[in-house]
Amino acid sequence: MRQIDRWNWNPKTGPNELFRRLQRDGATLLRMPNAARQGLNARAFYRTLFGCSPLAVDGSLVKFEAGVQNFPNSRHQLPFHMDFFPGSNGLPCNILIMVCRANARTGGDNTLIDLWKVLPQIKRHNPKIYRRLFTDYRPMRSYTGVTFIPTVSYRDGQLVCVLPPKPEDGDEVGAEVAKWVDRQRPQAVRCEPGDVLVIDNSRVAHSRTEFTGTRREFWRIAAEHPIPLPAPADLVRTAKAAARSHRSSSAGLPNWLRQQLRLGPPADGEAIRRLLVVLDSLGGDEGIYRLCDRYQIDERDLYRWRIQALTGALAAIASSSNRTLETERKAFASAFVQHLAPHQAPVNPGDW
Ligand SMILES: [Fe+2]
Repeated sequence: MRQIDRWNWNPKTGPNELFRRLQRDGATLLRMPNAARQGLNARAFYRTLFGCSPLAVDGSLVKFEAGVQNFPNSRHQLPFHMDFFPGSNGLPCNILIMVCRANARTGGDNTLIDLWKVLPQIKRHNPKIYRRLFTDYRPMRSYTGVTFIPTVSYRDGQLVCVLPPKPEDGDEVGAEVAKWVDRQRPQAVRCEPGDVLVIDNSRVAHSRTEFTGTRREFWRIAAEHPIPLPAPADLVRTAKAAARSHRSSSAGLPNWLRQQLRLGPPADGEAIRRLLVVLDSLGGDEGIYRLCDRYQIDERDLYRWRIQALTGALAAIASSSNRTLETERKAFASAFVQHLAPHQAPVNPGDW
């Protein structure tokens, strides 16, 4: 992976520079001294960085917590992985931002591996497994749940590569991917307070080295960028063909389940733009006039879209009210066993 150089944030040119570097390298490190001191408004911070709002965004603190068993908040070295939104079949976020508030005296470096560089190596040495990266739904157990998804897939117009911290027992494809990931020389990034590491989480896997002390503290932001990030044409072509085949094999599934698999075509760009305005207006951290001015829209349109969005959301939630988390888990498990991965051993839905 190419050396990640630190660059200084400039409010005027920053978002374009960020995109340029992210597309070129899959990750970028920028210096924004006041980032470490900012309040934890993840949506506003995202807008500062990218010049546009995210569809979804979660912010949390990653720091050592004595007695806490979960791996991210330990001092251990982490295995390489991609981050997922929690939930039943939660999908990976496409942007991951790590804002350094303090680093450990020893260790605690962020390390990165670009999966776009790993895939051609698997293709060259094991073409049979390479094909299965696109076709085989695999159980991916992350720190927040289990997701069934192919290693490389096409969702909402976006190429998505996924790496769980470790493959399940008996997962032949996962074991091969892990073998090739182990052979890479990761890019190490040493963050200092005020550094912001931005990662394309649909392409680059991350980890961190073991560290000492209790100082290390990062503000972690997982986000769904509203526009698909560009990807190599050959990978997109293969992933699109697999998505077509998965769409037809899942035709018998209930609509809600098909929607959650996100195998359909990408959403209409104008509809996404309207949804972003509505989401921003609901955040309430920006005056309505300023918001309408920023999006160049009529205030009356904003309120019209807001009623449509809330009515639609309410109807969707109401229609799901008779399903419990357990019902959804079971429906997902049986969908994968019957329609998407009939040749694979099912994972106990209670684990999800
Ligand atoms: Fe992570």
